[in-house]
Amino acid sequence: MADKTLSGEVFYPTEDAIRQAHVKDWDKMREEAERDLEGFWAKEANELHWFQHWDKVLDDSKKPFFQWFVGGKTNIVYNCLDRHAETARRNKLALLWEGEKGEFRSFSYFALRREVCRFANVLKSLGVKKGDRVTIYMGRVPELPIAMLATARIGAVHSVVYGGFTVEALAERIEDSQSKLLITCDGAYQRGKIVPLKQIADEAVQRAGTIESVLVVKRTGEPINMEQGRDLWYHELMALPIANGGCQIEVMDAEDPLYMLYTSGTTGKPKAILHTHGGYMVGTYTTLKYVFDIHEEDRFWCAADPGWVTGHSYIVYGPLLNGATSFMYEGAPTYPYPNRWWQMIEKYGINILYTAPTAIRGLMRFGEAWPNRHDLSSLRLLGSVGEPINPEAWKWYHRVIGKGRCPIMDTWWQTETGMFMITPMPCVPLKPGSGTRPFPGVKMDILSEDGKPVKPNEEGFLVIKTPWPAMLRTLYKDPERYVQQYWSKYPGMYMTGDSARRDEDGYYWVIGRVDDVIKVSGYRLGTAEIESALVSHHAIAEAAAIGLPHEVKGNAIHAYVMLKAGQQKTDTLVEDLRQHVSKELGPIAKPEHIEIVDSLPKTRSGKIMRRVLKARALGQDPGNLTTLEE
Ligand code: WTA
Repeated sequence: MADKTLSGEVFYPTEDAIRQAHVKDWDKMREEAERDLEGFWAKEANELHWFQHWDKVLDDSKKPFFQWFVGGKTNIVYNCLDRHAETARRNKLALLWEGEKGEFRSFSYFALRREVCRFANVLKSLGVKKGDRVTIYMGRVPELPIAMLATARIGAVHSVVYGGFTVEALAERIEDSQSKLLITCDGAYQRGKIVPLKQIADEAVQRAGTIESVLVVKRTGEPINMEQGRDLWYHELMALPIANGGCQIEVMDAEDPLYMLYTSGTTGKPKAILHTHGGYMVGTYTTLKYVFDIHEEDRFWCAADPGWVTGHSYIVYGPLLNGATSFMYEGAPTYPYPNRWWQMIEKYGINILYTAPTAIRGLMRFGEAWPNRHDLSSLRLLGSVGEPINPEAWKWYHRVIGKGRCPIMDTWWQTETGMFMITPMPCVPLKPGSGTRPFPGVKMDILSEDGKPVKPNEEGFLVIKTPWPAMLRTLYKDPERYVQQYWSKYPGMYMTGDSARRDEDGYYWVIGRVDDVIKVSGYRLGTAEIESALVSHHAIAEAAAIGLPHEVKGNAIHAYVMLKAGQQKTDTLVEDLRQHVSKELGPIAKPEHIEIVDSLPKTRSGKIMRRVLKARALGQDPGNLTTLEE
């Protein structure tokens, strides 16, 4: 039970929250998991369906290439849909959706399975086979999860590219994955405007050169170019007899790939994180069940985009594995008015809201009157993810949205981890700004540069010391970089790329990235991607990008560029460059500020020293400069 002697500002769980929670004593759960890690995960895995039971829970003989549920046969989609569609849950709502213009669509488990089977039949008729990669580039419409599930049902591997990315980002991801099929929309609604997804896709398809067919979902009805022999309408194919009937599920090995998701790492181009059917399924199922304490009657809203890992794990897979009702909304939180979210919570009786600090800070700016106009009493739990939440935003969220009744699950995790890693549960005393402690069965630590655990409240590198089922298996086509990027700094330990400290109560406080990743509004971008977009502009010779603190976005991108010889500094150049990045990479990557400089600080080997730029911008001491060129 709640320990009353914790330091600092603590919010204790209510008796009510503890009474209805699946887990009432997480220390006991943690002890059990530590005593028998494989038994702990096997118990959870046994709640799901396997065509064939596994021989071994964890095989670490080829570490860091860990394998989970070795020899087991399953398909995550069977557990997401068929398992429920064949029981009393068949009529339960699986997916609820509201469009930006206010339309509403819903799917029962039975109906969602039917749509997924129909679409899977269409994919098969286009020649998609087990192991093929399918790129999905769509807005937030129900056909997006349907496309993901249909792909996985037939054993193909989905690669979802966030709909906020543009030409170059999409082209690179298509090419790297060698996808032959692209699924997209004619356009997407965003704040009343239309994002021309198909037009962007056309340009990317041309640059990438691997795509043979493009399937287009009609969302806006705006006229678009359809290329004969390559482009096909989703609704036309779904109306053909080939779509009808069930679709036999592909029996997958637990370790077979489920999806790849590109994310920015330390250097160079984004790499695809690879997740599997078996372990990822067990990890997302278990963590969602216990952390957001899923009950049969719950309506769960994860307000992320399905194009990022949060949407994969906690809009699509986690909720469906749990037989829960997942709500998805197409548009922006403040459109047309800042009460849009609160209105939908009231309208649909949402019980759990899971979002990012940047959204909370953005909504806070509009004041309390907007949420106060709505009945938010259905809410029971709140969640936060993507970046550290500042205590001020935490307390606003807790008081104004949760009315002081709803505990906040501040979940730390990554594309790579697939599932929550540092997170409270409803029975746990909370401290605003801390994700509390690692999930049972997960061992983490904070180390100094030389690999020793740091003292309480000292900052260090956050590492993971035990394998977990939803862990990435490798980087697609680049196993060496997988080892080098994650497993080489400290032998036998997974390097998160974050820094953190742990207080005297063992609570973790994540500070932020220590590598070349910038978190802008919770979105993960790499300095290399932004710089390469900048130098693809005809006037630019070299560029450096850094993240600087921003009140709402967490971090904002600041860029420094050097012009090519003979190029003139014009009044419009900076704005031109910002637009160029937005067009190549996406509006989220548009630098807040660009400065034209005569030189960039570099090491003698020619590496740009971003930390020097950052220190200068913040008016801080740049530290050791002995490696600086001049
Ligand atoms: C950051 C998102 C503090 C962190 C699920 C991590 C967080 C990166 C939190 C992964 C949190 C995520 N508190 N920081 N609760 N959650 N982060 O891959 O820096 O998009 O390494 O996955 O987000 O970002 P990614």
